[in-house]
Amino acid sequence: MKLNYEKSGSQGPVFLLGHGFPFDHTMWNAQIADLSKDFIVIAPDFRGMGKSSPSGSAVTSMEELADDLAELLDDIQIKKCSYCGLSMGGYVGWEFWLRHPQRLESFILCDSNAKCDTPDAAQNRLKTADRIEAENSCAFMAEIMKKNLMTNQTLASAESTDSVFSRYRKMVTENNPSGVASVARGMAQRKNFTNLLQTVQIPMLVLAGELDLLSPPEAMKELTDAIPNAQLALIPNAAHLAPMEQPESVNQAIRQFLNSIPSEQ
Ligand code: MLT
Repeated sequence: MKLNYEKSGSQGPVFLLGHGFPFDHTMWNAQIADLSKDFIVIAPDFRGMGKSSPSGSAVTSMEELADDLAELLDDIQIKKCSYCGLSMGGYVGWEFWLRHPQRLESFILCDSNAKCDTPDAAQNRLKTADRIEAENSCAFMAEIMKKNLMTNQTLASAESTDSVFSRYRKMVTENNPSGVASVARGMAQRKNFTNLLQTVQIPMLVLAGELDLLSPPEAMKELTDAIPNAQLALIPNAAHLAPMEQPESVNQAIRQFLNSIPSEQ
């Protein structure tokens, strides 16, 4: 599987970024610009999303997306990295941790969780996947999802040029319908990692917007408490898309965490 990816920075430990659903690697633009001064930052588009082609199968599992990351690292001859995944990128991160533990130095779970879908949520995803394919477009999702993903403040400045909302809408509406539908079905059948949390041995940061409705602070605290030595960073004035809404605070939290990790590279 050939992934489209951006690689930035020429020195320092490797930092791999996994985007959320149904976005692409450009959601990390502010992190790439800042962190590439001190890290080698790699930001791929997951299979079927952004500019990476879909595999053509009806379901793309989180396992496959995690294996794609390992293959990408093989391709560009990188042994180990720290990984940060937002929401769906976090689900992929859990599989990457489970399937490729030797590659992972540390893990940032950003506005995400370790659970599987409830039966109702899984059903809804399957319906969404069918609708995306029927309409051959992801455009309807931008409107449906927006209130769950961004603060009222972000939404209030929605129409200004280059606003977070405009960038969000572009990523969603321009995404590949068959790739996105396939990944939605993969999320519906993802594993529950809750019982494995206590076995995490690498440094871990749980990072989330304080106003994230999908990954609320109480749930993030509970998750952090269940993982040995995990740290929690809550970002003020940010919701689910914290890295886009409050890039400076997010970058600072990421830097502080990454700088506390002794790199083996
Ligand atoms: C995401 O941002 O990746 C999605 O909210 C994940 C999900 O739908 O569970």
